[in-house]
Amino acid sequence: MKRIMAGAVLMAVFFSTSAFAQDAEALYKSRCQPCHGPGGKGTGIAPALVNNLYIQSATDQDIADSILKGRQGADRKFAAKYPAGMPPQKLSDAEAQSMITYLKSLQGK
Ligand code: HEC
Repeated sequence: MKRIMAGAVLMAVFFSTSAFAQDAEALYKSRCQPCHGPGGKGTGIAPALVNNLYIQSATDQDIADSILKGRQGADRKFAAKYPAGMPPQKLSDAEAQSMITYLKSLQGK
């Protein structure tokens, strides 16, 4: 019985950690890619997130704010280039944190 319990705990740990990285990429593809493009390379309606100085220099809190609150009205940095801005994105705190880790993994590529 004890052995079965230990196995179950190990499986749970395994699935939760491997799901972590995959979740952020899947979430990116479904929620961010339509605007920011495959691999974060940017499109005509949103800036590239690869080799992005803001992601490289901002605090996690600032990046989370940009994602969760979006960039609308006066908060837009690139209003002239991308006038539609970015709508607020509904992500849980855990999803936002894994998204930030994912975005940082795109730097230097
Ligand atoms: C409807 C299109 C759209 C969607 C969907 C979208 N974004 Fe954006 N995003 C933008 C635009 C446009 C900007 C630039 C806004 C500005 O500051 O002028 C932006 C800016 C950003 C920035 C700041 C970039 C910088 O250099 O300042 C980050 C980070 C970001 N988006 C991440 C995300 C993430 C992560 C998702 C998915 C959860 C996402 N975005 C979904 C359009 C979008």
